[in-house]
Amino acid sequence: MPERGLIERYRDRLNLEPDDPIVSLQEGTTPLIPSPHLSNRVGAEVFLKFEGANPTGSFKDRGMTVAVSRAKGRGVQAVICASTGNTAASCAAYAARAGLRGAVIVPEGKIAIGKLAQALIHGARVVALKGNFDDALRIVRELSQKHPIELVNSVNPYRIEGQKTGAFELIDELGKAPDALAIPVGNAGNVTAYWRGFQEMGASPILYGFQAAGAAPLVTGKPVEKPETIASAIRIGNPARWEEAMSAVTTSRGRIAAVTDAQIIDAYHYLASCVGVFCEPASAASVAGLLAHGLPTVEGDPKPETVVAVLTGHGLKDPDTALGKAPAVISCENDLSAVERAVFSD
Ligand code: F0G
Repeated sequence: MPERGLIERYRDRLNLEPDDPIVSLQEGTTPLIPSPHLSNRVGAEVFLKFEGANPTGSFKDRGMTVAVSRAKGRGVQAVICASTGNTAASCAAYAARAGLRGAVIVPEGKIAIGKLAQALIHGARVVALKGNFDDALRIVRELSQKHPIELVNSVNPYRIEGQKTGAFELIDELGKAPDALAIPVGNAGNVTAYWRGFQEMGASPILYGFQAAGAAPLVTGKPVEKPETIASAIRIGNPARWEEAMSAVTTSRGRIAAVTDAQIIDAYHYLASCVGVFCEPASAASVAGLLAHGLPTVEGDPKPETVVAVLTGHGLKDPDTALGKAPAVISCENDLSAVERAVFSD
């Protein structure tokens, strides 16, 4: 069997214990898709790192394989997380794989339907909180102090370890680090993880982090009490990795900027209809940011020539948003000429 999972690929660079078992669904090694169309618009060579191709459809699997392997190695029986949806789906799948119990706390009515279906079918206990993600995270932090249950949010250091492999893959595939990385920012774990991965490889690309305008605490500099955005995955008002993310972005000579819901949805639709890549709305924030803000640099620094936009999750996670945005289905009689009209009329 070829070594496909990312622990097998990168174990020497992860801080797992030698005896930890590998709990894997063969995550990682996701496509790096060139996009001439987008490159023209941005004015640099842009590649899309399509993390929707991970086993549960998001980048969370990179962190989850490592966090759940370590949890299993320590002998815990159960894992828990707060989530806007993707962490819940990933946690539930890896718990099932490891034979552990899983519990996920999600903001009620605020996560995409595909993510909910995943968490439920993998057998996690799904709790819908009458509160937002920040409330849920506060509660699971307390619960994991009180009970023998492993917290697998990105406050868990092994999540960051796993997610830094995204940076390793970029360097492996491009032969060098890109000049810049565009990435959506919610709880700020992933931007922190990419930076760690790049730094471990001696690279320092410019980090462009993008938050939704209604949930942009890292842009405004203060927590947002009631975050709001159509990009439900990044509807977060008080990121757990706030300081580390800001320090990474500043050191990289990059910035965190906001994109409006309209810009996010435009980029989401553009990626699907002109580039052929279907990501979820939060993921499109990376491309929305490049289109809205360009490639700003600190004065005197060269303009980035190679840029990677991380598309963090699959569009199928959130069919409701896609159907709301796309044109209607054409209903048709069972008849050749009716079909002809339906297919060819303007
Ligand atoms: N994109 C997607 C699709 C996400 O699901 C998330 C976070 C992010 C971007 C932001 O990543 O939090 O590391 O800055 N989702 C978490 C969850 C919060 O619960 O699934 P981050």
